[in-house]
Parts: sequence; C-alpha cells; structure tokens
Amino acid sequence: MTKVDTALNQLKTLERVISKAGLGSRTQARSWIHARRVKVNGKVVENPDHWIDFQRDRVEFDGMPLESKEKRYILLNKPTGYITTFKDPDGRPTVYDLIADVGTFVSPVGRLDLDTSGLLILTNDTQFAERMTNPEHHVPKTYLVKAVGPLPEESLGRLRTGVELSDGPTRPAKVVRVRDSEKYTHLEITITEGRNRQVRRMLEAVESKVLKLVRVRIGGLGIGGLGIGKWRDLEAGELKGLGVEL
Ligand code: URA
Repeated sequence: MTKVDTALNQLKTLERVISKAGLGSRTQARSWIHARRVKVNGKVVENPDHWIDFQRDRVEFDGMPLESKEKRYILLNKPTGYITTFKDPDGRPTVYDLIADVGTFVSPVGRLDLDTSGLLILTNDTQFAERMTNPEHHVPKTYLVKAVGPLPEESLGRLRTGVELSDGPTRPAKVVRVRDSEKYTHLEITITEGRNRQVRRMLEAVESKVLKLVRVRIGGLGIGGLGIGKWRDLEAGELKGLGVEL
C-alpha cells in the first residue's frame, strides 16, 4: 500500500465515523449530525459527508469525545438480549447498561447480534477499532454454534471453502465439528470477516439454522473466566497480542 493509499484509508465521512463508533446506524448518525449534536474540533458540523482524518480531527457526540487521551480497552462477556449500539429506538437493553461503571466513553469493536453472546471488545481507540474491523486485516473470530439438524460432512466442506451469501461469497473458514446429536450439530467456526449476521447466514446457506451462537475468541484473546454480563480491562499482554503498542 502506498503512502497516498494509507492517507486515503484514514479518511472517513463524519456519518461513517459516528456509526462505526457503534453509536447507531448510518441513518441515526445523519439525524444526530443534522440535529447539531456532533462537533469536529470544537465546532458543530452539520454535513454528514464532512471528511474526517482520524490522525488529526477530534469528534465529539453530545459533548463526549469519541476518542480521549487515556486509551481504554474493555472486554465484556455479552449476554443475549442486549443490543450492541448506544441507543435503541425500541428501548431494549444495550451493552452500555452493563458497562455504566467504566467511566470513559467506549464503543464496541464490531457488533454482536441481540441473540449472540460472548466476547465483545469496547474501546475509545478508534484506530485500533478500525484495524480490528477492517476486513482486509482478516482478524480471526471464533464462534461456538449450535445448529439445527445433523449436518453432513459435505455441508461442513461448503462452509469451509465458502458459501454464496447475498453480499458475495464468504472467505474460507475453519470449521470443527465439536459434537453431534440426533437433532443438532455443535460446531466451532472461525471466520476472518465480520459481515452482518454472517455466521447465521452461512448456516442458512447450508439449509440449517443457528439456535445458539457464542463468540469465544478474537485473534488470540479468549473469554477466560469472565462471568456473563461482566467486564474487565484488557491486560498489557493481551493488548500486545492484539497489536496495540502501549
Ligand atoms: N455472526 C452472526 O451471525 N452474528 C453475530 O452476532 C456474530 C457473527
């Protein structure tokens, strides 16, 4: 990648920065920007297509900086029934209800569906979040899956090589059969992309359905003994493993 490519990669529209920070959808981001709730370098910006340079620009939402000097990296063991955005128009519980005592504004690194549980990193380091979620970086994410039906080896083979989804074929995945019963198959699936509802859609593509989905690993980081609904700061060694230089 050339220097010019790198510089262009760092530019994002304001709307995208807000939605990428995990605050809400791009439509919500646009409405908040129009409602003058977003400042860039201390000034209200009403144009959702305003270009932001991560290296230089400081973005605030409702007076809270999206990124602050003190970097925080939180690991949450997300229960099912919580959504991964800041505010839910339907008033459902959000992951922010579980991390109210963190003391700094942090945003989820990627999303987990309402019905998915497990490992979720939250941070105020937007560059780190961008690196972890950028599909070009192929960060592996591992899920335990309980799926409908005894899945034949042929279906697992298709999941491994890639299945066709509405937004294109999936990259090769690591798929390990954990155990089978008459009605269900338990799998461990590692993917290097993070598309919307990807694992659920992959299983639908092989005529099955996900009944339970738990994220157990991101890169080299596991959930360990962290209780469900609990959070903790990531340790220096764990951060190093994720490529964070302290
Ligand atoms: N894949 C899904 O289908 N859902 C998630 O929450 C995460 C990965």
